[in-house]
Amino acid sequence: MSHSELEKLIAEKKARVAIIGLGYVGLPVAAMFADKGFDVLGMEIREERVKMINSGKSPIEGDEPGLEELLNKVVGGKKMRASTNYEDLRDRDIILIDVETPVDETHTPRYAALKSACTNLSTVMKKGALVIIESTIAPGTMKGTVLPLLEKNGLRLGKDFLLGNCPERVMPGKLLANLKVMSRVCGGDTPETANVMVSFYRNIVESDLDTADWATAELVKTVENTYRDVQIAFANEVALICEQAGADVFRVRELVNKSPNRSMHIPGAGVGGHCIPKDPWLLAYGIEGSDVPLRLIPAARAINDQMPLHMVKMLEKALERHNKKISQSRVLVLGYAYLENSDDTRNSPSATLIGGLDALGAEVVIHDPYVAEYNGDVLAKAEGCDAVIVMVRHDAYLNLDPAALKAKLSTPVLIDGRRVFDAAKVRGLGFDFSAVGLGL
Ligand SMILES: NC(=O)c1ccc[n+]([C@@H]2O[C@H](COP(=O)([O-])OP(=O)(O)OC[C@H]3O[C@@H](n4cnc5c(N)ncnc54)[C@H](O)[C@@H]3O)[C@@H](O)[C@H]2O)c1
Repeated sequence: MSHSELEKLIAEKKARVAIIGLGYVGLPVAAMFADKGFDVLGMEIREERVKMINSGKSPIEGDEPGLEELLNKVVGGKKMRASTNYEDLRDRDIILIDVETPVDETHTPRYAALKSACTNLSTVMKKGALVIIESTIAPGTMKGTVLPLLEKNGLRLGKDFLLGNCPERVMPGKLLANLKVMSRVCGGDTPETANVMVSFYRNIVESDLDTADWATAELVKTVENTYRDVQIAFANEVALICEQAGADVFRVRELVNKSPNRSMHIPGAGVGGHCIPKDPWLLAYGIEGSDVPLRLIPAARAINDQMPLHMVKMLEKALERHNKKISQSRVLVLGYAYLENSDDTRNSPSATLIGGLDALGAEVVIHDPYVAEYNGDVLAKAEGCDAVIVMVRHDAYLNLDPAALKAKLSTPVLIDGRRVFDAAKVRGLGFDFSAVGLGL
């Protein structure tokens, strides 16, 4: 199929679309294209998820405004269905790949899902199809990994299929809204392919759609998340300085940001999720073997990774003031997801914190309203605890009555990693209150 034939199919909404990987990213993308009139097939290896989606239910537990309603509408209206059978991809004109792309403990990309998706697709891909990788990948992955796998079965780029990279920019909790309003980079194997991608994404994206080559698209995504990680690390380091200097980092930040062109990020108890902790390593991997010295990116990762353990130190100091040892205390951790009002626990800073508390012999009680394993009545869980550590800014905690919380505790220690509580107010109630970036 030529670029112009594909353009025509897109304009007439006759292009048959597939999304491989129906997770936080792929599921809303699939539902949005279906809602715009395309016939959409979702390919997913988790059978339970496929069943749920085909009954119009969203498998995402966190607050995801509009997603379940939209799924209901498009599945009910027969515009979208999910499958586990790659054979169903044979008639698809446009295939998006949205599988996970984690790194391992040595910070090396683990592309098992991506490789399996590309290899399976290569056996059923229709001639003339456009394949778009939406997953975040290290610079060089399109050329070095994706293309050779897609060509494995004899089809050739340019002659038999087109290939693009259009990284996603969504955040859990705002998936549908982000998809609509965030700009996107359409990296094509040729400028003509990039233009076809723009026509396709114009159906769901209201913001800029910029064309680029593969390498630029790969770099933009990994650089933007690395930028965020480095900025958060800077804010976290300033927070530690403020704790020592007896100042409040939030007031310092507010006043710094009054200076032109300053936009200091928010410090906190750590950085989690599937993206920010690993995308800097994907960027770094892209230049592995070169002589570019990497200093700032690993330093930022190390600063952010140690923030949950800094919370353990804050707790140790607070308990000392009450003649208590961590090994003799029962600690309530508020929040296990990595993000407010989300069920996403991937790379959760709470897991690192809990590991640190366990190592010191504390008894740990965990609460999270969005994580099935840990939900329940927060005040009941606080009963008899010696300390509370806030790790996530869930709405449920913003609405928590601090006096009722204190009444349940054996020792009134409160450590706030997300500035949920007002220091003056809770100190007035008799809490021994510490917070990230707040000097005592
Ligand atoms: N979560 C985010 O906020 C976010 C934001 C921007 C970009 N991204 C990127 O998007 C990609 C997907 O992230 P996610 O959060 O949606 O991951 P996810 O784990 O929620 O979803 C991936 C899905 O792919 C499925 N899958 C794995 N291998 C498969 C295969 N061979 N065939 C079919 N399905 C398969 C998995 O079962 C899973 O449901 C990643 O590269 C991530 O870095 C994520």
